[in-house]
Amino acid sequence: MYIMSKIVVGKKADIPSGKMVHIEAGGKDVLVTNIDDNFYAMSDICTHAGANLHEGELNGKEVTCPWHGSKWDVTTGKLIWFPSKIKDEETYKVTVEGDTVYLEV
Ligand code: FES
Repeated sequence: MYIMSKIVVGKKADIPSGKMVHIEAGGKDVLVTNIDDNFYAMSDICTHAGANLHEGELNGKEVTCPWHGSKWDVTTGKLIWFPSKIKDEETYKVTVEGDTVYLEV
């Protein structure tokens, strides 16, 4: 049986809208983002060749991979653009309780 764990990402105030945070949780590299004060989480590892997406650039809800430029929707984990078909990113649940942001992996 797989048990979800709930991990503190940080204080809401430390992750303002437009910011990306990288966190290791449950053996996974996770990218947590704040887009217009909604929090999202997906795998930080590009499914193309393994770059860390938090080292790329975030524009609105679109993150660009620093290695070969794939573009991802951080709110859904879906691929927006790449010349070939690559797998979508796994997404995770983020919750906010009081002023603390939690990740469930
Ligand atoms: S590793 Fe991300 S596009 Fe190649």
